[in-house]
Amino acid sequence: MIKPIARIEGTRAEKYEALMPQMIALIQGEDDLIANCANVAAALMMHLDFHWIGFYFMKDGQLVLGPFQGPVACTRIPLDRGVCGAAARTRSTFVVSDVDRFPGHIACSSLSRSEIVVPFVVEGTEQVMFVLDVDSVRLDDFTAVDRRYLEAITAMLGQHHYA
Ligand code: SME
Repeated sequence: MIKPIARIEGTRAEKYEALMPQMIALIQGEDDLIANCANVAAALMMHLDFHWIGFYFMKDGQLVLGPFQGPVACTRIPLDRGVCGAAARTRSTFVVSDVDRFPGHIACSSLSRSEIVVPFVVEGTEQVMFVLDVDSVRLDDFTAVDRRYLEAITAMLGQHHYA
């Protein structure tokens, strides 16, 4: 049984650092990807002040909503739409400081102001398996710190051996 972390104080970097052992334990203890994505979203949402966090999975050339925390969201995103589509299409992380200035941004929630999307690309292929999307109600809320930790967590999730 994973012991929940009650409360973490400090900067966002310190919070990510404190959460990493729990992330590793959660992911290594389970061999179902959906279950792991669900717990990772819940653990991050509980300790970091995000508006929305969740996963979209590549299915038949579209991104389809997976486990998430926060308000209800768009269920399907074509690759030529939104920050998620751009991240999946280019297979690279997108940090958007002001979503209103991002052409094609999909406003699932009118409260979202900034966003980071991290894709997971299957090693040795060009195939995107899923993207992790995080939204904030604050402008310019995501930095290199978020990018570093969210990319590490996404890689751990994707690279874990699944049954
Ligand atoms: N804003 C995203 C869509 C997903 S929601 O934010 C949950 C985008 O532009 O891709």
